[in-house]
Amino acid sequence: MLFPTFVFALVWSLFLASASPITRRAPLTLAVHDNSLISAVTALSATDISDLVPLTQLARAAYCDPKSVQDWTCGAACEAVPGFQTTLTGGDGNAVQFFFVGYWADANTVVVSHQGTDPLALMAILTNLDLLRDPLDPVLFSGAPAGATAHSGFQEQHAMTAMPILEEVKRLLAATGSRSVTLIGHSLGGALAELDCLFLALNLPENIAIKGVTFGTPRVGDDEFAAFFDAVIPDFQRVNNKSDLVPIIPGRGLGYVHPKGELHLLDGDRAVQCPGNDNDNEEDCQIQTVPNLLFGNLLDHLVFNGIPIGSIFCF
Ligand SMILES: *[C@@H]1O[C@H](CO)[C@@H](O)[C@H](O)[C@H]1NC(C)=O
Repeated sequence: MLFPTFVFALVWSLFLASASPITRRAPLTLAVHDNSLISAVTALSATDISDLVPLTQLARAAYCDPKSVQDWTCGAACEAVPGFQTTLTGGDGNAVQFFFVGYWADANTVVVSHQGTDPLALMAILTNLDLLRDPLDPVLFSGAPAGATAHSGFQEQHAMTAMPILEEVKRLLAATGSRSVTLIGHSLGGALAELDCLFLALNLPENIAIKGVTFGTPRVGDDEFAAFFDAVIPDFQRVNNKSDLVPIIPGRGLGYVHPKGELHLLDGDRAVQCPGNDNDNEEDCQIQTVPNLLFGNLLDHLVFNGIPIGSIFCF
């Protein structure tokens, strides 16, 4: 019974994505002296890309058995971030995504990482396909605009782990003296990290710097949500691998809008930073590479910066 529902939801998303107001336009041409193209995108340097590697491994570690994450023995992901100290793990990997909280001494930051939609965990995928939005919970997100709405399923998932994460982050900030929190997640975990960015920014003292780095993240909320998010969380990167189809759902035709911060991994070592919310006019940005699901490739949802993410990659 679950599988036909999933297929139906995919086809429906395809329809909505196709119905969204996408126009293919050439990049602006510099008319004055030559024909070179002005592009709002900027190329990422090799250093920018290598800086993402440990963050990608921390997103991968969230899929691993909580015992191995607690001991930091989860395989290549844990080995890539030596000295990381996990202080809290939670979730069951099914109804509630795994997550962990810990201290990354090398970066002097408290880290919260959320597991995402493993293709092997169908329940989690189905959670991802309930397309209704609700206003942000006024208790968890006190101070957010009343009109801002976000995916109801993502909000329900987020609410299940919000308070234990907040308490542990507060405790670790006090214990380590760090003034920085980094939220990480892949897929559904990226959506949860996005919500956690806002939640923690609204519930921690203003002198705590909040940074978010997510991978293959679906759209989370509407235009008011995105505008508020952009204002409150300037240090945000959402990394997309070339033709991944998850970042184009739920469709913009339903009123979903991404926050800023897209980094788009292209062929080879090429990657660009897309400064807008969805960068319609830039052929190197996600919405042009994947104008609808027919152009998408689910395999590109599983590898970022050459690093495979998923529960089968915990070795
Ligand atoms: C994007 O995904 C593909 C397919 O899994 C993979 O071969 C490629 O290495 C990924 N790109 C990056 C930059 O990781």
